[in-house]
Amino acid sequence: MAQAWAFALLALCYVCSSINGERSFLSTRDPAAADDSDSDSDSSIVSRKYRTAYHFQAPKNWINDPNGPMYYNGIYHSFYQYNPNGSIWGDIIWGHSVSTDLVNWIAVEPALEKGSPGDILGCWTGSATILPGNIPVIIYTGGDKDDRQVQNVVLPKNLSDPYLREWIKPANNPVLQPVGPGFNESQFRDPTTGWIGPDGLWRIAIGAEVNGYSAAVLYKSEDFLNWTRVDHPLYSSNTTNMWECPDFFAVLPGNKGGLDLSAPIPNGAKHVLKVSLDSRDKYFIGVYDLKRDAFEPDTIEDDRRLWLKIDYGNCYASKSFFDSKNGRRIIWGWANESDSDADDIAKGWAGIYAMARTIWLDNDGKQLLQWPVEEVETLRRNEINHQGLELNKGDLFEIEGIDTAQADVEIDFELTSIDDAEPFDPSWLVDPEKQCREAGASVHGGIGPFGLVVLASGDMKEHTDVHFRVYKSEQKYMILMCSDLGRSSVRPGLYTPAYGGFFEFDLEKEKKISLRTLIDRSAVESFGGGGRLCIIARVYPVALVDERVHLYAFNNGSTTVRVPQLKAWSMATAQVNVKKG
Ligand code: FRU
Repeated sequence: MAQAWAFALLALCYVCSSINGERSFLSTRDPAAADDSDSDSDSSIVSRKYRTAYHFQAPKNWINDPNGPMYYNGIYHSFYQYNPNGSIWGDIIWGHSVSTDLVNWIAVEPALEKGSPGDILGCWTGSATILPGNIPVIIYTGGDKDDRQVQNVVLPKNLSDPYLREWIKPANNPVLQPVGPGFNESQFRDPTTGWIGPDGLWRIAIGAEVNGYSAAVLYKSEDFLNWTRVDHPLYSSNTTNMWECPDFFAVLPGNKGGLDLSAPIPNGAKHVLKVSLDSRDKYFIGVYDLKRDAFEPDTIEDDRRLWLKIDYGNCYASKSFFDSKNGRRIIWGWANESDSDADDIAKGWAGIYAMARTIWLDNDGKQLLQWPVEEVETLRRNEINHQGLELNKGDLFEIEGIDTAQADVEIDFELTSIDDAEPFDPSWLVDPEKQCREAGASVHGGIGPFGLVVLASGDMKEHTDVHFRVYKSEQKYMILMCSDLGRSSVRPGLYTPAYGGFFEFDLEKEKKISLRTLIDRSAVESFGGGGRLCIIARVYPVALVDERVHLYAFNNGSTTVRVPQLKAWSMATAQVNVKKG
């Protein structure tokens, strides 16, 4: 039953201290190293209850970027930037886990350890490519003794080992050095997966700063060992400096199937260049001219705040791969903690990955869509189902009967009228987070806010709000989706922004606005409008440890919204790198 909600409880409070935005380059041994000394009743940040139950994480310590994901001979491989000595960034090597379903993972030996001339300072981000003859190769960035960033390759020692546990560094390393006019030697990293051009040569792109500008510089090779720089970049921009972690792939409009960039690309395909900057993963959709070897975005916004984002929340350094088992493209992104370095040292762990997501291009080729891989649904337990709910202004409907700390929720919202949509102001597009901050869940609107309140304490002092507002633009409707962390925890010293973004919606054609939210202890990962806008957030409510957390659907707009369908499940705990026995 819907009940009137004291929206006053949602009065906003934003504590925006600078927490994990900046990477610390210190390396420390972790004193707490996530041992078993913390008990479940300990409400401090070290409680194990903040460890996610089904998102990817390392057995302990710090992780950042996903590296070289691939499907090879029946096994999915997740390599990851890993600090073996502590829970903040430093001493980076490649951790390695394997899976048959992208949900349950077994940790194996680290794949790459630093120590050779080309990676004496660390083994940084890179990608995997499957060469003809079914031979996987990894190309990655290393820091050499002069603090230059160089590229190295490694090959599996034993192709008949199903887990590819050992990797060999050939004597050719480093295979690429930061040489060329205008190159910044310490800003040359994160090679992409390779692809073959019409001349039969391999190509890779590398993030670099050239003459102070960002570029995805392009190299060609016959054998993946000897590389020549192409005289122009794949793409560059003078609006930003170094781009990290470029990712380049092909997609077919309206087709959920993925494409292998090394196979012939069908007519009508578009290409996507993703780059990581400003703590976000941004992308361009465009055309890759095979003859000129250049990528041209369909539209270029001068203001980079307007560039499309893979995820509008806490997600960075994502990397995609073609899953030849299921013919789909899958993307992984890193979600850092939103607490402090001191918290991470105390916890003994930091960093998770967003769920593996299938990624594809929408029908009109304008934006990417993402959805958790269907394997995630194998974790669903005790489904609850509600139909035909009606949420009037101020209504709050409690969703009960599932584990609200570990859940998957799918809810559709249907508007009873679109007359009350407020006018859209295009200037909001440069800073949707400001809109989300100012128009929080407690601020009434014409249509919306409506959505979910997750991880809420019994007294409502803590809650994370995921919601929509609908605005009328000249020809179309614009939807603002927010994941507001302003009141997510009473714990001091956390980073608690209001993440948000806008997406276009044809309300006359598509009557329902869908929201799917994966709740996983300290992770809240939401997919709005069927995957048009994704937001992952990290939250640490005290109620998660001390009491029971609550889950609600709500509406706080003048227009009544119907919920034709609401389904929710408890999520089982996956086997994510759990140590045996
Ligand atoms: C992105 C990044 C990469 C680099 C790696 C080092 O998060 O800075 O550019 O290769 O992390 O861990």
